[in-house]
Amino acid sequence: MAEPIIEVSDLVKHYPLTRGVLFRKQVGAVRAVDGVDFHLGRGETLGIVGESGCGKSTVAKMLVNLERPTAGSIRYKGEDITRLSGRALKAVRRNIQMVFQDPYTSLNPRMTVGDIIGEPYDIHPEVAPKGDRRRRVQDLLDVVGLDPEYINRYPHQFSGGQRQRIGIARGLALRPEVIVADEPVSALDVSVQAQVINLMDRLQREFELSCVFIAHDLSIVRHISDRVGVMYLGRIVETGTDTEIYEHPTHPYTQALLSAVPVPDPEAREHRERIILSGDVPSPTNIPSGCRFRTRCWKARERCAREVPALAVPAWFRTGGGPAAHDSACHFAADGSIGRSAPGQVVPLEGHGGGPG
Ligand SMILES: Nc1ncnc2c1ncn2[C@@H]1O[C@H](COP(=O)(O)OP(=O)(O)OP(=O)(O)O)[C@@H](O)[C@H]1O
Ligand SMILES: [Mg+2]
Repeated sequence: MAEPIIEVSDLVKHYPLTRGVLFRKQVGAVRAVDGVDFHLGRGETLGIVGESGCGKSTVAKMLVNLERPTAGSIRYKGEDITRLSGRALKAVRRNIQMVFQDPYTSLNPRMTVGDIIGEPYDIHPEVAPKGDRRRRVQDLLDVVGLDPEYINRYPHQFSGGQRQRIGIARGLALRPEVIVADEPVSALDVSVQAQVINLMDRLQREFELSCVFIAHDLSIVRHISDRVGVMYLGRIVETGTDTEIYEHPTHPYTQALLSAVPVPDPEAREHRERIILSGDVPSPTNIPSGCRFRTRCWKARERCAREVPALAVPAWFRTGGGPAAHDSACHFAADGSIGRSAPGQVVPLEGHGGGPG
């Protein structure tokens, strides 16, 4: 395992839910992130995947210090960065940079590309002396595959994919060690998504970056990630390598997500079942007891309402060994069946298009 550059432990972000305008009274909390653990190895890419509202962006914002956690720790090279301030905070911020989801709204339309990419140097002038900035920005444009001559243009003169390249160039300006990319391709046309993913993959290797790459969809992170974490309602429910997650998923939620990913090979498709989850994701203000996935799970039994499953290697892996042993937060991750106990929820894939339900 690569030496960890970031270690997240029991990370929590709760937003108070208030009522009343004059006398604001707290009536509950939005449990956006509710006990997340993961590590990011040096030079590694970790994919984080989950449905809308499961807390991905909140995790991203805490990693780059845009939000302060309610509890838990984020260690960067061994040091907890969640309570830093002043100079120490500034130094860490320089090393952990974010690439945002929407290249249409995240770039200031009144600034030139040169000013956008060079803006981080205003905050960290020690990285690039004034007289050197233009050359550096042109280098960055070249690195992300844009013509350095574009330096004086404005964002509206670029396509979505090109704008995201500008966002990536800005993220690289300070030569960070870690990049947190929050759904960097979701706002782009499918045809340009792969180009931007390939660019990030190349840059990650070229600059030896450690990356957290967030997406909705398991198929997007597959080729860029060394490991993947699957999030559900504020927690990571399963984490493992590419092979472990895609070929040996043990958490029912991961199995359901994977069953919705289109499979190009018709023969493989025939042997697969499409799992349709019942109901909607519960509200993060009212999280089910025990296993938070149980209200939509076909394997749920009484124990699931009582006991929170730990994110750990299931016992049968520990005793049986095998190369696919990895962490899964399910009491019944062990039994290997995919939904056979719930007739009606599992239907053959055929005739169901293939896109996520
Ligand atoms: N500032 C805030 N105040 C209150 N609730 C918030 C705040 N920010 C986020 N939330 C809530 O926290 C939950 C998690 O939000 P978050 O944006 O992290 O999800 P996400 O996984 O990034 O979703 P998406 O895929 O749609 O981007 C959501 O229910 C959201 O409404
Ligand atoms: Mg988000």
